[in-house]
Amino acid sequence: MRRKETKKVIFENIKVLDAGAKGVSVAKAPEGQVIFIPNVVPGDVVDVQTFKKRKAYYEGKAIKFHELSEHRVEPVCQHFGVCGGCKWQNMNYSQQLFYKNQEVYNNLKRIGKIPLPDFEPILGSEKQFFYRNKMEFGFSDSRWLTNEEIASGESFQKNALGFHIPKMWDKILDIEKCHLQEDPSNEIRNAIRDFATEKGMTFFNARNHAGLLRTLMMRTASTGEIMVLIQFFEDDKANRELLLDFVYEKFPQITSLQYVINSKANDTLYDQNIILYKGRDYILEEMEGLHFSINAKSFYQTNSDQAYELYKISREFAGLTGNELVYDLYTGTGTIAQFVSKQAKKVIGVEAVPEAIADAKENAKRNNITNCEFYVGDMKNVFNEEFIKTHGHPDVIITDPPRDGMHKDVVEQIMKIAPEKVVYVSCNSATQARDLALMDEKYSVTRVRPVDMFPQTHHVENVVLLEKRIAN
Ligand SMILES: C[S@@+](CC[C@H](N)C(=O)[O-])C[C@H]1O[C@@H](n2cnc3c(N)ncnc32)[C@H](O)[C@@H]1O
Repeated sequence: MRRKETKKVIFENIKVLDAGAKGVSVAKAPEGQVIFIPNVVPGDVVDVQTFKKRKAYYEGKAIKFHELSEHRVEPVCQHFGVCGGCKWQNMNYSQQLFYKNQEVYNNLKRIGKIPLPDFEPILGSEKQFFYRNKMEFGFSDSRWLTNEEIASGESFQKNALGFHIPKMWDKILDIEKCHLQEDPSNEIRNAIRDFATEKGMTFFNARNHAGLLRTLMMRTASTGEIMVLIQFFEDDKANRELLLDFVYEKFPQITSLQYVINSKANDTLYDQNIILYKGRDYILEEMEGLHFSINAKSFYQTNSDQAYELYKISREFAGLTGNELVYDLYTGTGTIAQFVSKQAKKVIGVEAVPEAIADAKENAKRNNITNCEFYVGDMKNVFNEEFIKTHGHPDVIITDPPRDGMHKDVVEQIMKIAPEKVVYVSCNSATQARDLALMDEKYSVTRVRPVDMFPQTHHVENVVLLEKRIAN
């Protein structure tokens, strides 16, 4: 170990041991402290320079590679390592799946502390790139320059349309090609950036809160339909129409062209009035003959192909025969509810966002589904004795909560009404494990199958089947 004047520590010849949380790998210092290191792969042997020390761990970066892991692959993306996304692009896909599976297993074991069956094999995504149906990019007049660009001595233009640099709220990395959303996503983004720059339109400055152009959101669907939404900070009709007309003429395949004028401090779209410029205000997604309309604010699983696989697994776990009353908690736009409806007597969906429930009802009508009902409300308030009395005692509950998991009152209510089966779909196996532990008194976990919806990232979805224990 050498010490530098800066008091930063360099550890030499450190073997990277594990792929840890948030896509950052884990190693151990000679005295046993954990070191978190980004952009390395388990199996690499590196010299690490630390830049942060906490009581229990260091954060550091690899400054020299002695050995490269056999699990390394060449990242396909030119922005890898600078852009905050796709942190696992340097690790082969089977190894990514191995670590995702391990994360779910460790969470269920260590947090859940419950008996577990053998896991069914994690389901990988056939598409490992270009799998996302929704992307959001930020405009900035403070483009992030990479070390190579600075070293080149060339001058670069300042406008950027791309992603925030991690932990840099005011800097945006200009993206030339992103491997997450299929074309024409890259073409549309680059054309907008170039046209706007050529016409002298101003890009947002996050420090001064100024500039015409703020964000760009694009949605694509397996039906080929495309939604483009541009968020403007300033209300400049002439430039707005110049840009929107350009986009529509250049990309006539766009199904829905919309915009927002948002001069608030934050750029979230959810409380904004979205204005339709051309086409219709939604796009259609298709799954097993069902059509789902998706508007600018709708939640829809971001990997459509894997959402289909996830739903098939959930439906299989539910083991429906056609006679069951099913509750679909956290139903979003009612996709799971409608997906299982043919195999159930009736499905009741509950969701907090009124627009999502309006979509769910509209979609059910579009799909000629008559045995699904949808209700709005916060689950912890709506899902009570009265609700069960009115809508009936469920035989099966499918629950797909947000990352925080289920509110404890919701878990309690499930325990009280104790349906035969609960299918628990989760994007965060740590909170899922906590909830499973709360249900352990009455339920056995009988099936577990992780599903990868997000290749090149550490995120993983998990489906669990809970079956009621037979009372002695
Ligand atoms: C992971 S999404 C699942 C959506 C849906 N099952 C699907 O596959 O598209 C979680 C959903 O829970 C909703 N939600 C979040 N908190 C909620 C709450 N407290 N009560 C009811 N719904 C909530 C969100 O709006 C979101 O639609």
